[in-house]
Amino acid sequence: MKLGSLEVDSPYLLAPMAGYTDKPFRYICKRYKAGLTVSELISVNAIYYKNTKTDELMQKSDIEKPFSIQLFGADPDIFLYAAQVVEHRCDCIDINAGCPVSKVIKAFAGSYLLKDKKRLFAIIDKLKKHIKKPVSIKLRKGFDSYSMNDIAFYKELQERGIDFIVIHPRLRSQFFKGEIDYEHVAAVKEALRIDVVVNGGIDSVEKLEKIKNITGDGFFMVGQAAIEKPYIFEDLLIGKDTKRDLTFIKNLIREHFLLMVEHYGEKAAVKNFRKFFHRYIKGINNAKVFKSMMNECSDSKCVIGLINNLTNA
Ligand SMILES: Cc1cc2nc3c(=O)[nH]c(=O)nc-3n(C[C@H](O)[C@H](O)[C@H](O)COP(=O)(O)O)c2cc1C
Repeated sequence: MKLGSLEVDSPYLLAPMAGYTDKPFRYICKRYKAGLTVSELISVNAIYYKNTKTDELMQKSDIEKPFSIQLFGADPDIFLYAAQVVEHRCDCIDINAGCPVSKVIKAFAGSYLLKDKKRLFAIIDKLKKHIKKPVSIKLRKGFDSYSMNDIAFYKELQERGIDFIVIHPRLRSQFFKGEIDYEHVAAVKEALRIDVVVNGGIDSVEKLEKIKNITGDGFFMVGQAAIEKPYIFEDLLIGKDTKRDLTFIKNLIREHFLLMVEHYGEKAAVKNFRKFFHRYIKGINNAKVFKSMMNECSDSKCVIGLINNLTNA
């Protein structure tokens, strides 16, 4: 099936998440059949000033196809420069117009672009003129209740050549909490020719069905639920919420950790894996004890020992 001009195997896509959607985690989600993987947001200024850390964020595994790189920034020329630098490393460039974090807003980027549409359109026009790969945008339904996106705005994005739009239908002022306005996405889908992806709150097949009753079929992007159960993409595809047994979960945790060791080296992997480990073991007996033991681990042997000792009894 086609998402814009990208060939994808599944309509269920992995959302970009800073601090989580690195190469090892995206690989795991792809193996569980995520239709598209996206890098976390990457600063166009960091690319412009050749910050070496950005290279790590853009590394991808061989199975990630299609793979999108998400950029955030405010200056249209620097945005274009960065997009040209990374274009050969991905199948799509995604513009971040949704990030609610104050540091990003103060730099006139992320969801600030929904208040400064002139700047947003200038970025889009530059990219569409000079970038050959598809250009998508991920945004919120508005910055605050005084500046909700209207249909004319979405039509303008379409006319300027955006290939597809991902909507997390909350306001910037809501951050990651509160009501998710799926009706907003339904109205945009109805009005546009291009693909519109629904994002926010999808954590089970049951929930997806409820959302589909409002938005209709199409493309859906999953964020936080994938951190707890990356196999959610497979569940959504087969249309059944599965309960995986402890052996499966332990194998999954072990595989993920070893991929992180390969990617980051042992010391950084142990540190970076903690947040994933805490999410994976939610609901397991003595989770609290395992969490604090994990926080004390400083080498792979300790982490693997902990994983092996996880028990439901
Ligand atoms: C820890 C975290 C980091 C995030 N980082 C990004 C990001 O880099 N780029 C982006 O567009 N959205 C980011 N988001 C927003 C998610 O992509 C998504 O829109 C939001 O979590 C709602 O989807 P969900 O309910 O499925 O998690 C982030 C969300 C979280 C929780």
